Amino acid sequence: MAKIGIFYGSSTGNTELVAEKIREAFGKDKADLLNVDEASVDDVLRYTYLVFGTSTWGVGDMQDDWEDFAEELKEADLKGRKIALFGVGDQDTYPESFADGMGTLYARLKKSGAGFVGEWPVDGYIFDDSNALKGKKFVGLPLDLDNQDDLTDERIKKWVGQLKKIFK
Ligand SMILES: Cc1cc2nc3c(=O)[nH]c(=O)nc-3n(C[C@H](O)[C@H](O)[C@H](O)COP(=O)(O)O)c2cc1C
Repeated sequence: MAKIGIFYGSSTGNTELVAEKIREAFGKDKADLLNVDEASVDDVLRYTYLVFGTSTWGVGDMQDDWEDFAEELKEADLKGRKIALFGVGDQDTYPESFADGMGTLYARLKKSGAGFVGEWPVDGYIFDDSNALKGKKFVGLPLDLDNQDDLTDERIKKWVGQLKKIFK
């Protein structure tokens, strides 16, 4: 089994696509890919290093499958694990709640005992507000396939490069 577990929720396939790219960037033998729609808390507990990804729906909600899964995870003790978050959103149409799903996921899990890694600067994004901000940085990596897809691969490469130094 790989050491890194990538868990994602995706309604129209964008977050799934990003999760696959992130897995490739780590190296396929290093990371497993799991859809939270089918995953269990026990699956999460198999990994020391975790990557959680959600898109944003409604106005600032997590992707649907994450709603249930985050609730289940609330009971779990994730002490000693490291979690990196990524969020997929649309900063142009939803500038007031850009990648909020990622911020909501962070808020739900921040008392789980896990350590959060993979913060990302706001440079290059154009938005008004996001609950995924912690100080001047995002709590994880936001990606926008609707407006900035040309930056996706580059952002993933850099972010995963940073995580490789932590996930070892
Ligand atoms: C009805 C609707 C509401 C959305 N709300 C938000 C939002 O509040 N913030 C945001 O950043 N993106 C929002 N989005 C954009 C989606 O998160 C984005 O299209 C994403 O790529 C979808 O990923 P998925 O197919 O993996 O679920 C919304 C999209 C739709 C269609």
